[in-house]
Amino acid sequence: MDKFVIQGGGRLKGEVEISGSKNAALPILAAALLGEGTSVLNGVPDLADVRHMVDLLGDLGAEVSRGDDGRMEISVTDESHSHAEYDRVRKMRASICVLGPLLARRGKARVAMPGGCAIGSRPINLHLRGLRALGAKIDLDGGDVIATADRLRGSSIFLGGPFGSTVLGTANVMSAATLAQGTTVIESAACEPEIVDLANFLTRMGAKIRGAGSPRLVIEGVEALNAAEHTVVPDRIEAGTFMIAAALTNGEVTLRNCCTDHMMAVVDKLREVGVIVEQTNGAAVASSVRRLEPADVTTQPYPGFPTDLQAQLMTLLTLADGNSAITEKVFPDRFMHVAELLRMGADIRKEGPTAIVTGVRQLVGAPVMASDLRASAALVLAGLVARGQTTIQRVYHIDRGYERIELKLRSLGANIERVSD
Ligand code: EPZ
Repeated sequence: MDKFVIQGGGRLKGEVEISGSKNAALPILAAALLGEGTSVLNGVPDLADVRHMVDLLGDLGAEVSRGDDGRMEISVTDESHSHAEYDRVRKMRASICVLGPLLARRGKARVAMPGGCAIGSRPINLHLRGLRALGAKIDLDGGDVIATADRLRGSSIFLGGPFGSTVLGTANVMSAATLAQGTTVIESAACEPEIVDLANFLTRMGAKIRGAGSPRLVIEGVEALNAAEHTVVPDRIEAGTFMIAAALTNGEVTLRNCCTDHMMAVVDKLREVGVIVEQTNGAAVASSVRRLEPADVTTQPYPGFPTDLQAQLMTLLTLADGNSAITEKVFPDRFMHVAELLRMGADIRKEGPTAIVTGVRQLVGAPVMASDLRASAALVLAGLVARGQTTIQRVYHIDRGYERIELKLRSLGANIERVSD
């Protein structure tokens, strides 16, 4: 297993290219199963999770090729196997988003239940409720979801849950509804930019979708969808991570291929803390030159502050001049990074779904352990600014969602090495 060795200190300066969004690419790759012909995707990031999805599509009869320029071609040549096996799904929970496309296109799907992960139990009850509302027969057997439907029927569905909307649940039900007979209304749909991107891809395939980006989606079913070409939106979570890296090190970083329009809650909060964020056409410049101010934040479904940047913001607030309260409303247990940040000298106290962060003068490098994707990113950020050396074990977690992060950071002047154990 690889680890990162980081020598703290030094300001990050320069330019970095933000990759395409992992959380847009995954459901869009799954939706390619709906199309007749060869779909072409541009801007798909080269990540472990994407490679897992490509392997899964191979199991499901799709041939996927990636050119040197990152251009991906997906053509479904064999629709006889519709089983997403546990060994695949357990490695990447987002595999569940093949369920809707398989069911709509082939009338059947067997997909392993994803199980939990470090940030929570990750149920899929809302996915299943939505697909049942479209007329699917859903059984559970041996840890697998077995879904069948001769022809899905349009329906009106409330898809909200105890934590608000569900991103991949919306992706599954919206994708399935594109081929249902009649019109489907999804109320309390996820509004994330990644869902809008998926809706744009489906529309290019011939789907009829209104309201993408709003809590109310209206989908008019069509007979068939064709393959299409699409470019994936930039990754707003990677962009936010690099903005925080610039601020933490009192540096100045230009982020190319950055859509700040998808990051208004993030930019608003960073400016409150004292980060300077300037927007130019298709890019953003993040910097910080003075002590950081404390701030309170609550994570919410889009357009609220994203849970996927909660850990990274916590690292920033460990050095703010006062007390901050971070409340996690999407994944209440998403605090695996706290124990590791404490090892680096942070002052954080957990109070249920809230972490109280008291700013300290400096973090101190230490050996720490990555536990999940975004917690790992928070530890890398802490290592960049800590005094001395930080080693981060199990960096396979970070490779799931960041394309060669150590190379991008090194190009900005960071002292970070990947070392194979
Ligand atoms: C997506 O996960 C993202 N993953 C997550 O990013 C992100 O944290 C999450 O949305 C929230 O924004 C991908 O897009 C691949 P949810 P998803 O369904 O769709 C509860 C990352 O770091 N819920 O929106 O699985 C659930 O427990 C990853 O890139 C139900 O109760 O999340 C959670 O509390 C981590 N029943 C809340 O809803 C359900 O059927 C939001 O979950 C589904 C979800």
